[in-house]
Amino acid sequence: MRIALIGAGYVGLTSGACFAQLGHSVTCVDIDQSRISALKAGRLPIFEPGLEDIVTRKTRQHRLRFGSDIEAGCRDADAIFLAVGTPSRPDGAIDLTFIEAAARQIARPMRRDVVAVIKSTVVPGTARRLREVIAEARGGLDFSVASNPEFLREGNAVADFLSPDRIVVGADDPRAAKVLREIYAPLLAKGAPGLFTNTTNAEMIKYAANAFLALKVGFINEVADLCEQIGGDVMAVAEGIGLDHRIGRAFLSPGPGFGGSCFPKDTRAFAEIGRRHGAPQHLTETLIDRNEDRKNAIAQQVLREIGSDRKAPHVAVLGVAFKANTDDARESAALTIIPQLIEAGCIVHAHDPKARPAVLGAAVIWHETSYEAAAGADIVLILTEWDEYRDLDLKQLARLMAGRTIIDCRNLLDFGQATQHGFRHLAIGRAAPPATQPGHRSRARGARVGDRRAAASPI
Ligand code: NAD
Ligand code: UDX
Repeated sequence: MRIALIGAGYVGLTSGACFAQLGHSVTCVDIDQSRISALKAGRLPIFEPGLEDIVTRKTRQHRLRFGSDIEAGCRDADAIFLAVGTPSRPDGAIDLTFIEAAARQIARPMRRDVVAVIKSTVVPGTARRLREVIAEARGGLDFSVASNPEFLREGNAVADFLSPDRIVVGADDPRAAKVLREIYAPLLAKGAPGLFTNTTNAEMIKYAANAFLALKVGFINEVADLCEQIGGDVMAVAEGIGLDHRIGRAFLSPGPGFGGSCFPKDTRAFAEIGRRHGAPQHLTETLIDRNEDRKNAIAQQVLREIGSDRKAPHVAVLGVAFKANTDDARESAALTIIPQLIEAGCIVHAHDPKARPAVLGAAVIWHETSYEAAAGADIVLILTEWDEYRDLDLKQLARLMAGRTIIDCRNLLDFGQATQHGFRHLAIGRAAPPATQPGHRSRARGARVGDRRAAASPI
């Protein structure tokens, strides 16, 4: 099949490269010239493990091309996928400007029988709206519209795309369903479940899936708070409830509050859809507020730990990306926490292996290594679960830091070891001694984030 991908960002580029890997002939089109120039020169504009290899191979085999001319990219396509951004508006609703603009642009070169497929995350009803937009631009043209939401996770995008839990297709006519079935035939043949439904259901599935996963994260974060109060260990609790196959262990890792380009935006949009249609999504509304509170509470925790006597304290922030294995920092906890620390007079030294968001500007002092960032620090705050932070040399850290406090928002460090090196190690939702039952995987013990007794006692 000949496929055009409009938007060569995290989703468009991954989808385009993976469609080429499945044997299709793909053109990725983006209005961002610098992005296309980089891709043509063999440079990836994003960091995504495994993607560069596929892009290089498929470009060489002429299965994957890049361009900035939508007309040229779409002219021969059997299917045109829209993977442009759908950002939040101030009221939480999503902004469909990019989708509608792209729809108008593809309408002109679209040939008869082509299927326009929405891969971006869009509110229910958007596929129908897209049909109207294209029909207005190209009255009389026979075409189909489909919805094919994407469930890939950044940092694992290629694997998620090529081994999906399911492929969801919303098609309101048999031709659209047939074309999508053909495009995904190699994955369906390998056993990937395909759910073929109408466009409204497909659009709704995407939001409900992300809201549900975000609720799992929000839930375990509150359980972590409770564990801290009762002297429990959230990691043991997550393990224990996760072994129930009806619940599952995935998305039960406590952290500094979820971020990224999807969970925050999609939960806000889901809540807004509920309000607009008179079916309020109370759980999601609460989740959104609690998630922001959590990020703010961590900033307050850092300031409490430092105390008011210390002037211009040096805080080392390890991890700015919203999660590991991506260079994406959109709505990451760091973007909420760091400005509050700076506002309170802290000098913030930061390190991240891949993310260096421009939005933090010159307010932060960036370092090439975590040790350089931690040198002279009063406190180290770990926000992203990069493996290299898990493997920090605590002896070296102790030698370099001025203070002895580590706030470990991803529970990466071994409690026992950190305390042995003289650290006050504040982890999330862990205060209890390690469980003694055989098979329990947790090894950690020590203080907990927000532990007032521990805060008052000497190290
Ligand atoms: P992104 O910002 O990384 O990429 C979007 C790209 O679209 C940009 O490069 C932009 O220049 C381009 N673009 C905008 N208008 C265009 C036009 N008219 N013609 C050509 N190119 C145009 O966004 P993303 O993270 O890839 O997300 C895209 C969509 O996919 C969003 O709706 C998002 O919610 C959804 N989604 C994202 C993820 C994810 O993990 N990032 C996962 C699933 C779904
Ligand atoms: C998410 C969805 O998982 C994916 O299906 C969808 O296509 C896009 O949105 P992504 O944003 O890439 O993917 O990351 P994800 O792994 O879901 O993590 C989202 C946020 O939740 C991150 O900030 C992450 O750190 C946090 N999280 C996730 C936790 O705090 N604990 C967990 O157990 C899981």
